[in-house]
Amino acid sequence: MVSQFLRVVLLVACVAVAQIYGDDPCSPLTVQNVSIDENSTLSWEPAADDSCTTDHYLVHIHNLEIVEYTYIVRTTTLALDFLPVCQPYRFIITPISPDNVQGVERIHFARMPLPLDANLTVGLAMVSEQNQGVTLSWVMASQWEDCAQRFRVIIDDEDDNNLVDVYTSEMSIDIYNLIPCTHYAFGVVALYNVVLEGPVTVVRRTLNGYVQSAPRLASISATTTSVDLTVQLNTVIQNRCTVNSIEVDVKGATNFNVSEPVDDTDAREPVTVSLTGLQAGSIYLLNLTSVNTAGQSAPTILAVQTANN
Ligand SMILES: *[C@@H]1O[C@H](CO)[C@@H](O)[C@H](O)[C@H]1NC(C)=O
Ligand SMILES: *[C@@H]1O[C@H](CO)[C@@H](O)[C@H](O)[C@H]1NC(C)=O
Ligand SMILES: *[C@@H]1O[C@H](CO)[C@@H](O)[C@H](O)[C@H]1NC(C)=O
Ligand SMILES: *[C@@H]1O[C@H](CO)[C@@H](O)[C@H](O)[C@H]1NC(C)=O
Ligand SMILES: *[C@@H]1O[C@H](CO)[C@@H](O)[C@H](O)[C@H]1NC(C)=O
Repeated sequence: MVSQFLRVVLLVACVAVAQIYGDDPCSPLTVQNVSIDENSTLSWEPAADDSCTTDHYLVHIHNLEIVEYTYIVRTTTLALDFLPVCQPYRFIITPISPDNVQGVERIHFARMPLPLDANLTVGLAMVSEQNQGVTLSWVMASQWEDCAQRFRVIIDDEDDNNLVDVYTSEMSIDIYNLIPCTHYAFGVVALYNVVLEGPVTVVRRTLNGYVQSAPRLASISATTTSVDLTVQLNTVIQNRCTVNSIEVDVKGATNFNVSEPVDDTDAREPVTVSLTGLQAGSIYLLNLTSVNTAGQSAPTILAVQTANN
């Protein structure tokens, strides 16, 4: 009963529409395949198998929220080479029938294409170093700045063949936690729409030297007259500056200094320092430091006691 009633209502509604518009008004289907080619021409296609003819199209061009341009177009292309390069726009294309019935609009977002003669090369404006880090900043020719959406910054540790990519939308970057005394190459590349890259601009820099942190005692053993200290230094990944020696300032029944030369390698194995000629059953105060090309580390202070006779 209910569905029969609905059918009657629908029939009445259709008759009413037909009476208002006279003969069979139709609304064109949404356009498809909207694109912008490399020459800044917007194009689209009428819906396939549309029984309703389109007389013309309305094209609105929005920049942010504002309608900047409206065109009435009788073909399916519109030249947009007057729009600024690389800017993002919202295009709204509405088909209109000969009876002035609007079809459903199609909204298309796009950035204006990157011109063939665009210069995406960045120029490095500043490279400065602070606190085991580097600040890079760069510039671009101003008419192409809008074309660089993001930048890829390449951090290449040339001593370790270790490459890291960092992305930023700013035109400068602070890079932290670099390795002292390491040879770096920093590259900056401008990206258009993420996939299209400009050429890389590279600057090389050897990071300043930093002293080692206070030596860490890995193990200790004592006899009546001697003490062996095994010391772990910062690894090459923490500090690449060459280590020259371990210094021990010994204070106790006798005072003396020991300088243990270090044959530094990339492995940077623990170093053992032997203190001999000590008195049995005595307490010694040891001041341990390491010396690298940047200077002397902070000290590690230890009290040790030799065994009784
Ligand atoms: C247009 O789009 C339709 C459906 O998305 C697709 O089948 C057709 O191949 C496209 N035509 C062209 C010329 O790209
Ligand atoms: C763009 O313009 C150039 C030069 O007029 C032409 O050779 C090229 O075919 C055009 N590209 C397209 C997609 O129409
Ligand atoms: C491209 O831009 C860079 C950075 O501003 C500039 O150094 C370079 O000279 C420009 N190249 C050309 C061909 O204009
Ligand atoms: C050991 O070296 C320190 C400086 O590193 C110095 O002040 C001290 O006098 C030296 N001690 C001896 C016994 O030579
Ligand atoms: C340990 O040695 C360093 C370097 O020689 C020195 O600056 C520091 O004052 C010494 N510390 C103590 C507690 O002796």
